[in-house]
Amino acid sequence: MEIQIKSLDIIHDAAKQFIKSMGDNTVFAFYGKMGAGKTTFIKAICEELGVTDVINSPTFAIVNEYRSDATAELIYHFDFYRIKKVEEVYDMGYEDYFYSGALCFIEWPELIEDLLPGDAVRVDISEQEDGSRLVKMEIQA
Ligand SMILES: Nc1ncnc2c1ncn2[C@@H]1O[C@H](COP(=O)(O)OP(=O)(O)OP(=O)(O)O)[C@@H](O)[C@H]1O
Ligand SMILES: [Mg+2]
Repeated sequence: MEIQIKSLDIIHDAAKQFIKSMGDNTVFAFYGKMGAGKTTFIKAICEELGVTDVINSPTFAIVNEYRSDATAELIYHFDFYRIKKVEEVYDMGYEDYFYSGALCFIEWPELIEDLLPGDAVRVDISEQEDGSRLVKMEIQA
């Protein structure tokens, strides 16, 4: 499925649409160039899921944990951009997150491709010529 985000004003509508399509999947791998809008869209999704804490880019932390005030569920937001060795990912206990059943949103999944669960959902975000963003989710119908 595809969602076009014409401007930041409507990103929360786009996030709602995304959430409706998530189904029972829990691990979402967000691909896209630097500045494509991965963090911004994940932040909007988390806000729509009831997270009220300020959500910053987790570039320095690898994983940030949020809790939805609406459901009390935990949500994990990963950014593997700064990973240098796969050992760092083993050491942080990635399996405990990916297979926890909690929602996991992952930036720069290409850097840990081999460690992604087989049922991770691929999401592609790209900036269009007009500055809008196109989100493609490869979800099984
Ligand atoms: N849908 C959108 N419409 C317009 N601008 C956007 C949109 N999404 C993000 N931006 C802007 O693009 C810039 C980069 O966004 P963001 O940090 O989310 O990118 P990113 O994909 O997470 O990048 P990185 O790979 O560096 O983590 C920000 O200034 C943000 O405001
Ligand atoms: Mg980012």
